[in-house]
Amino acid sequence: MRRLADRVFAVGVNDNKRRLFDALIPLPHGTSYNSYLIAGEKTAVIDASDPLFADEWLKNIRETGYKPDYIIANHAEQDHSGALGDFVREYPEAKIVASAKGRDFLKLLLHLPVEKFVLVEDRGTLDLGGGFVLEFYFAPWVHWPETMFTFLPAAKILFSCDFLGAHYASADLYVTDEAEIYLAAKRYYAEIMMPFRAQSRKALELAKKLDPRIVAPSHGQAYNRPEFIFDAYADWTSEETKNALILYVSMHGSVQKMTGIIRRVLEAQGAAARALDLADADLGEVAMELVDARAALIGAPTVLGGAHPAALYAAALLNALRPKTRYIGLYGSCLWGGKALEQLAGLLSNIKPEILPSFLVKGLPSAADEDKLVLWAKDVAAKVN
Ligand code: FEO
Repeated sequence: MRRLADRVFAVGVNDNKRRLFDALIPLPHGTSYNSYLIAGEKTAVIDASDPLFADEWLKNIRETGYKPDYIIANHAEQDHSGALGDFVREYPEAKIVASAKGRDFLKLLLHLPVEKFVLVEDRGTLDLGGGFVLEFYFAPWVHWPETMFTFLPAAKILFSCDFLGAHYASADLYVTDEAEIYLAAKRYYAEIMMPFRAQSRKALELAKKLDPRIVAPSHGQAYNRPEFIFDAYADWTSEETKNALILYVSMHGSVQKMTGIIRRVLEAQGAAARALDLADADLGEVAMELVDARAALIGAPTVLGGAHPAALYAAALLNALRPKTRYIGLYGSCLWGGKALEQLAGLLSNIKPEILPSFLVKGLPSAADEDKLVLWAKDVAAKVN
C-alpha cells in the first residue's frame, strides 16, 4: 500500500511472474493490476484486481484502515474486475459503481447480483464528502465499449484504467525511467489500443482537457508528468507514418536472400527498413514496429502447400491490430503450389492499406529474379518516400 496523494492510496498488486497476457501478449516486465483507495467521509476503491491476486489486494485495502463504501468499476475485463466477488464477500454493504453497460458486462462475466450496483451516467459524479467528489467520463473503446475514466478534481488525479497504461511491474509508484516506460507504454498501446486509434485520439483529448496533475492508469506506473504520456499518445495516434517494416520467415534461405535485397534497396532509397525474423520476434515487438510503419512487407516461404504459418500469423495480427500502415507488400518463394501470397492477402480483409503487387519466385531467386526484385523494392521505396 502506497500513498498517491493526501487520503489517496495505491492498493494494487504487482504480478512479476506473468509472462503472457490474454494467453497471447508477451510481458517482458510482468504487469500490475492497479487499484486506488480514496478516503473522503465515505471511502471508494477504484478498480479491483485480477482474481489470482484477490487476497493480496484485499490485504492492501485493509492496511489503509478504511472500510470501502464503494468500488468503482472503470472497466469490466477480468484483470480489473475478477476479484470483485471476493470484495463483495469481504464488504457486503459496499456498492459497485459502474455504467449501465459496465454492469451488464460484469453480470455476464462474474454473475454479480444486480442489487449490488449503483449506475452512473457520462459526466456523472459521486460525492464522497470531505471535499472528495468523483467525476465519471465515458471513454468508449479504449479498449472495450464500456470503458470509463474516473477523475478526482480535489487532487487532480485521472484514473484512466487501461488507457495510457503499460504492462510494467515496479516497486516505484511513479515513472522513474521515462525511456524504459516509453517503450513499455508503446508496446502496450500497440497491442491494446492501436486498433482503436480514432477512439484513442478522442480519449486523449478528454484526458488532456481534464488537465490532471497525476495520471494513474490500471497497469504500470503512475505519471506525475502527464505530458510525457500525452505527447507519446499524440504521436502514436496521429496519422503520421514513416519507414518500412519487413516481417519475414525463411526455411532454407530463399526468403532470407530476398529480404536482404529488399532491405538494401529500401535503405539505399532512404526508406529505412527494420526487418524482423518472425521465427524469433515476439508479438509485442511486431506490434510496436507497426505503430508508425508506412509500409509493411511480409515475406513467406511455402510449406505444406501454403504460406508458412508464422507469416500467416503475422498477416492475421496485422489485420487485427489495424495499424495506420498505408502499403502492404507480399513476397515469397515456392517450388510448387504458388498460392502462399494469395493466402496471405486473403487474411487482410479488415484493413484498408493499398496491397502492392506481390512478388513470388520459384526456389532460390535467380539473377534475373534479383534484378526484378530490386525494381519491386524500388517501387516500394517510392511509395514509402
Ligand atoms: Fe487491463 Fe482491458 O484490461
